[in-house]
Amino acid sequence: MTVALVTGAGRGIGAATAKRLASDGAAVAVIDLREADTAETVDAINGAGGRAIGIGCDVAVTDQVEAAFERTLAELGGLDILVNNAGVIRDNMLFKMTDDDWDTVMGVHLRGAFLCSRAAQRTMVAQRSGKIVNLSSTSALGNRGQANYAAAKAGIQGFTRTLALELSPFGINVNSISPGFIITPMIEETARRMGVPLDVFVKGAAEALPIRRVGTPEDIAGVVSFLVGPDASYITGQNIYVDGGYR
Ligand code: CAA
Repeated sequence: MTVALVTGAGRGIGAATAKRLASDGAAVAVIDLREADTAETVDAINGAGGRAIGIGCDVAVTDQVEAAFERTLAELGGLDILVNNAGVIRDNMLFKMTDDDWDTVMGVHLRGAFLCSRAAQRTMVAQRSGKIVNLSSTSALGNRGQANYAAAKAGIQGFTRTLALELSPFGINVNSISPGFIITPMIEETARRMGVPLDVFVKGAAEALPIRRVGTPEDIAGVVSFLVGPDASYITGQNIYVDGGYR
């Protein structure tokens, strides 16, 4: 059975991705900061007849990442797909951004993707196959109030291209997806912080997009499913914007 590990899979894009990969036939390790945060996703997958385990893990902490991969190998019997999705925002204008705002965002996105990918490649290189999908963002192109997040998400694209150079010879495809405005708890949090009702925030975003609607977590999960599937076997080192034409 194909085994996938998805970080930040307690909610939002990670949860939709874990469920989609499970419905595609994979056993899924659902990773989030606390094991309790994974319960909803794990129950949904197991309740639908799939196979999932929940693991609490801070992706920025080496020992916790190593332990999460060990548990996945021991309990699900392998590792074929890694989705580096875990992410946080600490939006603020540069002059008000704290050291902690910067370090937290870099830690989860870049250190997290690094630690998880380094752990995953051990198994994938040995078996000469694997798929790694990293979540970047349209914010990589620059977004006011997100110096930390934009830098991290642009970093993810360079990280992806470099891993593709190093790992593709071993049968491992490495790609990234850059979502635009996707309805997730992150967007709800942003609307709340800005004091704008969510429906007004979403309507404004939809009207500004060529496609005239905002995205759903399932819009992204479908592209992950494609990238880890057989139809994408000749795609590596790419970044795909899934953003309704945002740019
Ligand atoms: N030094 C001193 N003052 C400065 C300055 C500087 N370097 N730069 C700006 N200022 C001043 C401005 O002149 C302005 O002053 P006034 O209020 O007197 O006019 C003030 O600082 C800035 O005021 P703003 O009201 O513009 O800014 P704010 O601090 O209240 O908030 C913001 C700005 C953080 C960008 C906020 O608007 C925000 O959070 N926006 C949303 C950001 C966003 O898009 N986040 C996406 C989240 S979802 C996601 O990330 C998912 C994904 O992948 C796409």
